Order: sequence, then structure tokens, then C-alpha cells
Amino acid sequence: MRIDVLTLFPEMFTGPLEYSIIKRARQAGVVEVHLVNFRDWARDKHHTVDDTPFGGGPGMVLKPEPVFDAVEALRSSQETAGPLIYLSPKGEPLTQRLVKDLAALPALTLLCGRYEGLDQRVVDHLVDREVSVGDYVLSGGEPAAIVVLDAVVRLLPGALGDDQSAEDESFNDGLLEYPQYTRPAEFRGWNVPEVLLSGHHEAIRRWRKEMSVTVTRKNRPDLLRGQNDIIAGGHS
Ligand SMILES: C[S@@+](CC[C@H](N)C(=O)[O-])C[C@H]1O[C@@H](n2cnc3c(N)ncnc32)[C@H](O)[C@@H]1O
Repeated sequence: MRIDVLTLFPEMFTGPLEYSIIKRARQAGVVEVHLVNFRDWARDKHHTVDDTPFGGGPGMVLKPEPVFDAVEALRSSQETAGPLIYLSPKGEPLTQRLVKDLAALPALTLLCGRYEGLDQRVVDHLVDREVSVGDYVLSGGEPAAIVVLDAVVRLLPGALGDDQSAEDESFNDGLLEYPQYTRPAEFRGWNVPEVLLSGHHEAIRRWRKEMSVTVTRKNRPDLLRGQNDIIAGGHS
């Protein structure tokens, strides 16, 4: 997969791209990530990318020209740059379902806003999808793009090691994951649930399913609405 990121702060991606799963996936050729600073596409000698909002108000708005030029250059240099996704608090919420859909694409372009956001004409005439990472406001799209990158890359075939799996995780079957434990079996007087030490696979499966439902009901009851079939079905 190829992921292009349009940002005014490419340096913010240095750490996330150089550790753990994303680093290994890049080294293994599972994903190629390209960072484009759209300030390079500014047309004046001061490389201006923002201006005051029409109608007044605080802050600055990102001008359309550098973003259009950068995206059009990208699209003309590649067979497919994939959909252009603008990270925005006004976007559709990022869910594991959407992450799976994005991970199935051959390419993707992420656009990071700053200041008061983008001129609306970029959203209306260039952007394919607006995606939000939550109901709060970040200073810029970069942390949100890193969230999307991380969630997508770990689903690409070959990104996770053999001992890790994306199958048996929260949201895969509409529920949150059951609690996990490791050695020691007793720590400061707190014991691991007996069933996990029993070696009884069917009992463990049933316990995990029950715990998934319990955790989901407690922390995210909204996920259970209209999902009686999931609660009744098996969660391994
Ligand atoms: C300070 S925010 C702009 C907020 C905008 N004035 C508003 O009220 O909707 C600057 C940039 O951060 C990014 N951003 C902020 N919150 C976000 C969120 N929840 N999800 C995705 N991107 C976000 C967007 O790219 C946005 O253009």
C-alpha cells in the first residue's frame, strides 16, 4: 500500500514512522509512506499558505491554491493516489470498519489541516472524505493522520508478526475485547481468573465471550444497541 501525507509539519511523523509495527512494515515493503509539505506549493516568495477568513473572525484559514497544486501534482505523478482524506473534527467518525475499508485500498492520501482549517472549496471540490478521530479539537491534522496510519498499517497483510493477530481484537465483532492476563498467576494477592489456567478451551472461549459483553455493556453500551445476535453468538 502507498500512503501520501500532505502536511505543513512533516517532521511530526518522524517518530511514529520509525518505531515498531510501522517501521517494520515500511522496511518489509508492506507500506510506503510519502510526506509532502504543501508549503512547497505556495505561489509567493514568502511561501504563504494561509490568510484571514472572509467575513471576519479569529485565526487564519488555509488557502486553496497550494493544496490544490500539491494534490494535483501527486495525482498526475501516480497511477492512483487513492482517495483524498481530510482529517477534520467535522468528519465522519473513524471506526474499525472504516479502517478495514481503507486498509483494503492500494493507496490513500491524508490531508492535515492547521489553524482554523481549510478553505471550504478544497473540501467541496478536492477532498473525497472527511474523517474525524473524535469529538474534540486538535491543533492540527497530524496527530489524527498518525492515528489513521497506525490503525491502517497494522491491518495490512504481513505488518503484524506471526504471534500477533488483528482478528481477535476490540471492535472486530462489535464488542470490546475480554481482559487479558499474563504471568505471574498471582500478583500482590490478585489472582488470574481460574478458568484461564484450566486448559479447557471451550470454557475459556465462553468466559471470554461473557467478559467481552460485560466490558462492552459497562464501557460502551452504545455498541450493543440492536446487537442481540452478537451477544448470543460466539466471541473467541
Ligand atoms: C484547530 S483545528 C480547526 C478546527 C475548526 N476551526 C473547527 O472548529 O472545526 C485545525 C486542524 O486540526 C485537525 N483536527 C482537529 N481536530 C480534529 C479531529 N477531531 N479529527 C481529525 N482532525 C482534526 C483538522 O485537520 C483541522 O483542520
